[in-house]
Amino acid sequence: MSGAREARAVARSNIALAKYWGKSDARLNLPAVPSISMTLDRLVTRTRVRFDGTLRGDRVSLDGRTATETERRRIVELLDRVRHRAGLDLPARVESKNAFPTAAGLASSASGFAALAAAASAAAGLSHRPRDLSRLARRSSASAARSIYGGFVELPAGRPGDDGLAARALHDETHWDVRLVVALTALGAKEVGSTDGMERTRRSSPYYEPWLEAAPPLAKRIRQALARRDLPRLGAAMEQSTLAFHACALAADPWILYLRPATVAALRTVRRLREERGIPVYATMDAGPHVKALCEAHHAERVRRALRRTEGVLRTVVAAPGPGVEVLP
Ligand code: DP6
Repeated sequence: MSGAREARAVARSNIALAKYWGKSDARLNLPAVPSISMTLDRLVTRTRVRFDGTLRGDRVSLDGRTATETERRRIVELLDRVRHRAGLDLPARVESKNAFPTAAGLASSASGFAALAAAASAAAGLSHRPRDLSRLARRSSASAARSIYGGFVELPAGRPGDDGLAARALHDETHWDVRLVVALTALGAKEVGSTDGMERTRRSSPYYEPWLEAAPPLAKRIRQALARRDLPRLGAAMEQSTLAFHACALAADPWILYLRPATVAALRTVRRLREERGIPVYATMDAGPHVKALCEAHHAERVRRALRRTEGVLRTVVAAPGPGVEVLP
């Protein structure tokens, strides 16, 4: 390995246009359905990793505080994979900072694990080819595999046992001048994390199998519409993808309800803008209460104002397509 023992990387979060929900192999963290995302310029994580023989164990700090035991365990697992591959036996210090308020509920395992995969690999002197980084990040969080690339990205479904699965770039960030308007509807972390939420859905929702059947054709429509920059076609399939996975989670036992009154109000605002104002704008949601609206850049300010005025919306953030992970010199 090379002499470098410290490296820094920056990665950005992403929003799934075609949603990933459910795993075909929980041990290898392989998604059961294909997903397609847009990497976002504004939601950035910066991570520094230093392998250092003078430390007495791995030290992890997130936004200036010591990581909780659960957070630490997931991070140490990724470090262990890197150490194993590099034949390295040194403890590490990890410092990670989000350039957006964590308390706002936008903290993202996608940007976090993408930045960690890149910084840890570079610090250990391993390859930081995007494909290898995407695979490494995927083992920790499948959405992180997509944040390795900029612009528009696909993570195919994984066959059980296929540990080589990585995301691939579809189009770079100059492909389409769209914006994602994020409407924050609550503060704090989500109630049921995605990993637990998807596992409970798989075990107990009667709609899990129908979701597995519906997701690939929706992803295909989204991929085709994205290539043609056809927002109405993409938007219709994107809304169906998000609402289908929420419906599927809602029917789990115990039920998983991410929506709040403000979420529903924001969804209605998006539909009203479309139907009454003629603005092509479409909504998506993750495993949380926020609504994210996709529109062309020149409509973003009107969409932002309408969402900002919606009852229960606390804040808005506008993001554009952004670049992939970068290892800093
Ligand atoms: C609803 O990538 O957070 O945001 O692989 O278990 O870490 P793990 O799950 P994660 O799931 C993201 C789910 C989603 C949809 C998406 O981003 O595709």
